[in-house]
Amino acid sequence: MTGEHRHVVLVGLMGAGKSAVGRRCAQRLDRELIDTDELVEAAAGVPVTEIFAAEGESGFRSREVEAVADAVAAPRPAVIACGGGAVLDARSRQRLAEGGFVVWLTAPVGVLAARVADDESRPLLAGGDPAAELARLADLREPAYRSVADVVIDTGGRSPDEVAEVVIEALERSEAPA
Ligand code: S3P
Repeated sequence: MTGEHRHVVLVGLMGAGKSAVGRRCAQRLDRELIDTDELVEAAAGVPVTEIFAAEGESGFRSREVEAVADAVAAPRPAVIACGGGAVLDARSRQRLAEGGFVVWLTAPVGVLAARVADDESRPLLAGGDPAAELARLADLREPAYRSVADVVIDTGGRSPDEVAEVVIEALERSEAPA
């Protein structure tokens, strides 16, 4: 999507920094931060872990499709931080790609794994080997992230502030008259 009245959408795997970078982008652009996991939790009234436990991943994904639709429908341009799997649904991919400037945040799997270590809020990484699972998800999801991304930003070795700076520069470049 082009034009200045669009959302900034952050996608990428768990640990890519979507929430931390999103907060900083929202502050700097003076926009609302909409986090799709928070929308899902607000609608369900329980945390993501409990939704997975009670309804399974498929229940969570159905709720996530609604959350993405609601986020994109926000009347004012916002910063939307998506859950890592929000791009798995074709309708969501279309909504995100049409509704926003989509930034795919990447990092080497080892960096992602280090960032999510000791965080028990992610059911997909519970129990097993988080680095192996992240590597599997990276392979599986790469085409989906790529298909929606207007820009790809490597967050490895960069602080959330530095990444936010790069995101905003990319946004401004995309909006500059040709
Ligand atoms: C998921 C990522 C999580 C959350 C859920 C599933 C995924 O969000 O939506 O645990 O499938 O990658 P973050 O990417 O914000 O951790």
